[in-house]
Amino acid sequence: MDSLFSGSLCLIITGASRGFGQAVCVKFAEAVTKGKGRAKFFLLARNENGLAETTKLIKEVSKDVEVQVVCVDVGNLSSLPDAIQTIESGLKPDDYQNSIFIHNAASLESQSVVDTDDCEYIGKYLDLNYTSCHYLSSKYLQLFKNSPGKMHLVNISSICALDPYKRWALYCSMKAARDMLISVIAKENPLVRAVNYAPGPMNTKLLVDALHRNADPSIKISLLGAIEKMLATKTVSGNNF
Ligand SMILES: NC(=O)c1ccc[n+]([C@@H]2O[C@H](COP(=O)([O-])OP(=O)(O)OC[C@H]3O[C@@H](n4cnc5c(N)ncnc54)[C@H](OP(=O)(O)O)[C@@H]3O)[C@@H](O)[C@H]2O)c1
Repeated sequence: MDSLFSGSLCLIITGASRGFGQAVCVKFAEAVTKGKGRAKFFLLARNENGLAETTKLIKEVSKDVEVQVVCVDVGNLSSLPDAIQTIESGLKPDDYQNSIFIHNAASLESQSVVDTDDCEYIGKYLDLNYTSCHYLSSKYLQLFKNSPGKMHLVNISSICALDPYKRWALYCSMKAARDMLISVIAKENPLVRAVNYAPGPMNTKLLVDALHRNADPSIKISLLGAIEKMLATKTVSGNNF
């Protein structure tokens, strides 16, 4: 079986401007060059400087990857059709032996349920952390369904999809919902490799925000323990996973 990286690959990834998403892009670019393949990466996020930095890092490790930046707020649902249109016009699905869509973008809010009584606030959280994933999954399936290449759909998940954490009801619930979305897609589309992947704690903005913004004291203790472990083993960070 041909490796993912030895042929032609199309990668579409949300949250590519920093943290884990940026690290994935660089590691994939390295793998493409090592595998003597070629690829086109579509990098989605809001921060143009962050996306430019990711592009620069990709170019530093690979000459075999073409990059297209798609600057979009995936939480603003009305902007998603335009983003899809940009991606559609930037590729021919038949050209790729493999395509991968990675749902990586996410946000974390710390607030107890008793204090979360604003439906607009809840709705906006769902827009970014669930609805956009559902819509973009649907569009990805439509875009590549008639092409001969193999399709891969990856959701970046978390232990929070399985375990409840105080003040993180929204984050935990949406991680669980995304996991189930991917599991249903896998059942509906036996030819699509659809997987949930939880990377474990990483030293990124999301984790730092989690520690500093209204976090429950018990979570702080367990996260600080995880970070200490990370620093001791030096195996995991936002740019080195
Ligand atoms: N860090 C951890 O310990 C940890 C552990 C388990 C799982 N995870 C998961 O790993 C994934 C990546 O997290 P991370 O730690 O790398 O977080 P991060 O450093 O905060 O990065 C989040 C990414 O999502 C993008 N994003 C956020 N809101 C967006 C929006 N409205 N529209 C478009 N893009 C948006 C950000 O880009 P812009 O701001 O430029 O838009 C950024 O590129 C998440 O799914 C997270 O739940 C993280």
